[in-house]
Amino acid sequence: MKFLQFSVLPFLMVILSVSGANLTHHPHRDFLRCLSLRIENSCTITYTHNNPSYPSVLNASIQNTRFSTPTTPKPYAIITPRKTSDVQSTIFCSKNHGFQLRIRSGGHDVEGVSYVSQVPFVVLDLVNFRDVKVDTKNEVAWVQSGATTGELYYGIAAKTQTLGFPAGICHTIGIGGHLSGGGFGILGRKYGLAADHIIDAKMVDANGRVLHRKSMGEDLFWAIRGGGGNTFGVVLAWKIKLVPVPPVVTVFTVNKNLEQNATKIFHRWQQIAHKLPNDLFTTVWVMKVNSSQVGKKTVEASFKGLFLGRIDELIPLIQYAFPELGLARENCTQMSWVQSVLYFGALPIEPVEILLNRSALPRLSLKAKTDYIREPMSEAGFEGFMNMFLEEGTDLAITMMEAFGGKMDEIRENEIPFPHRSGILFESVYIVQWINEEDAGLCINWMRRLYNYMSSYASKSLREAYYNYKDLDLGINNVNGYTSYEQASVWGLKYFKNNFKRLVRVKTMIDPTNFFSNEQSIPPLLSP
Ligand SMILES: Cc1cc2nc3c(=O)[nH]c(=O)nc-3n(C[C@H](O)[C@H](O)[C@H](O)COP(=O)(O)OP(=O)(O)OC[C@H]3O[C@@H](n4cnc5c(N)ncnc54)[C@H](O)[C@@H]3O)c2cc1C
Ligand SMILES: *[C@@H]1O[C@H](CO)[C@@H](O)[C@H](O)[C@H]1NC(C)=O
Ligand SMILES: *[C@@H]1O[C@H](CO)[C@@H](O)[C@H](O)[C@H]1NC(C)=O
Ligand SMILES: *[C@@H]1O[C@H](CO)[C@@H](O)[C@H](O)[C@H]1NC(C)=O
Ligand SMILES: *[C@@H]1O[C@H](CO)[C@@H](O)[C@H](O)[C@H]1NC(C)=O
Ligand SMILES: *[C@@H]1O[C@H](CO)[C@@H](O)[C@H](O)[C@H]1NC(C)=O
Ligand SMILES: *[C@@H]1O[C@H](CO)[C@@H](O)[C@H](O)[C@H]1NC(C)=O
Repeated sequence: MKFLQFSVLPFLMVILSVSGANLTHHPHRDFLRCLSLRIENSCTITYTHNNPSYPSVLNASIQNTRFSTPTTPKPYAIITPRKTSDVQSTIFCSKNHGFQLRIRSGGHDVEGVSYVSQVPFVVLDLVNFRDVKVDTKNEVAWVQSGATTGELYYGIAAKTQTLGFPAGICHTIGIGGHLSGGGFGILGRKYGLAADHIIDAKMVDANGRVLHRKSMGEDLFWAIRGGGGNTFGVVLAWKIKLVPVPPVVTVFTVNKNLEQNATKIFHRWQQIAHKLPNDLFTTVWVMKVNSSQVGKKTVEASFKGLFLGRIDELIPLIQYAFPELGLARENCTQMSWVQSVLYFGALPIEPVEILLNRSALPRLSLKAKTDYIREPMSEAGFEGFMNMFLEEGTDLAITMMEAFGGKMDEIRENEIPFPHRSGILFESVYIVQWINEEDAGLCINWMRRLYNYMSSYASKSLREAYYNYKDLDLGINNVNGYTSYEQASVWGLKYFKNNFKRLVRVKTMIDPTNFFSNEQSIPPLLSP
């Protein structure tokens, strides 16, 4: 009896507190039975609390440790499918046994919605769907959703030095979530977004149908290229168009702190960066630093660039267009495109095998927000912005201001759901991180004040935001029950502008019962 008390009771309590289970009724056990009837050896791909591997499987791709605490709601089970039919069965059984399904690819969602929910849920983890097949002859690739951008970049570079792909900087992001929300990176001014280069996909919908571009139709194919993950179905793989890159590119970094006229140069940068040739992408990273020169804490603007060409062409180009930067030859390095990805990831540029290491980056707690700046900021505006990094809670804060223009200006706002295109000077990604849980309040408050400060400079009529850096402060769906069009349009218009309406129409058509949902997924219109 003693044995029972000590071993079984705590276990029951964990289940109760975690999912609010009603133990008189057993929907949970029915779910597992359902899986076992439909999937051979289903137990080898299913992890519940009593499986010793459950914590490590859940934890494996959680990038934001804010959602990895003992009080974070945990899934009843994690299913790691090996085959398409496993995915169909998981959808069927979750639907029939009242579990919400959360799809996870790379686990980099900044609000953790791929593995956290407020209602009983299971996680479909695509960790076994990570094939990358590169076809250099036709300049295309099929990449499965559970692969990382690093695995894709590596797979391309292993075959050719003259093709690349325009997606995000961080090499541990999952293809599944990234392509579902857009995907902007260092090739963005030259080629646009990752989602602009999707030419086919393989998806399983809420009814278990396997769809490709032809069978899903152009409305749905439009919606999955940026309209958000966990909304229309489970995308298992994407066919993408690769882009040409020169065998040698040039990268540079020039750092300027407050005492070195950083704000002046910053102010100048925003007037120039979006008009530079498409071959030149620049970004400014702002953070607090300890300066030995100044002998105290100051704020640094780190000007970084990627030029699709050689140093000898870059230097005169910058000297003509942006002399204030004071770019010296010593600030520039020539390398391959794939190495430049590591350079922007602040990693050693060789061996490039680092791209295959999914735990190469530190994992911290974080909160992010984004803005799109259309009107130039005043110099005083930049100064006030930079000074905010001298406040408390900013030790691990960083802002990345990424120049737009170029190809981003040329693509129509309704080409795919991502609408932030023509006329944007730069995208601003604000991230604050912390190590100790006690600092969460301080850091998140600072982030909200910074966002408030930037309201004077962000687009006035509609404050646009980037869906790939979800911000639940912008509003959420009802976790249990119906979300109205008006309620969702509060955040929906910020992320998707006028494309929001079409996304709601597609959602209503493909998933009218809202089986695929999260806090900020497009809701269907209630049928009359
Ligand atoms: C450190 C870091 C760096 C980043 N850098 C960049 C950057 O340079 N550029 C940029 O554009 N963005 C960047 N992002 C944002 C990133 O693009 C998004 O967080 C993206 O959604 C992550 O995809 P994932 O598969 O890793 O995430 P997940 O957490 O697995 O998924 C994100 C969302 O997509 C859904 N989803 C996942 N897979 C599928 C699928 N196969 N089918 C349907 N829905 C799916 C999930 O349910 C969830 O709603 C960065 C994020 C982090 C944390
Ligand atoms: C549990 O479920 C049973 C059967 O559905 C129901 O009769 C009972 O009221 C539920 N108990 C609680 C505490 O919700
Ligand atoms: C989860 O992962 C983090 C970082 O990778 C690690 O520090 C932590 O110990 C892991 N926790 C568990 C329970 O595996
Ligand atoms: C850029 O080059 C200048 C001149 O050589 C040097 O003083 C500066 O430290 C370099 N900056 C960086 C970030 O490398
Ligand atoms: C900052 O700018 C002022 C005025 O343009 C100039 O006189 C000064 O030398 C600059 N300081 C540095 C460190 O570049
Ligand atoms: C700056 O210095 C403080 C203490 O002097 C230290 O705690 C902090 O880690 C340093 N920050 C950086 C970025 O080096
Ligand atoms: C991946 O990177 C981490 C952090 O640098 C390191 O500890 C680990 O050994 C690396 N793994 C592999 C397989 O190289």
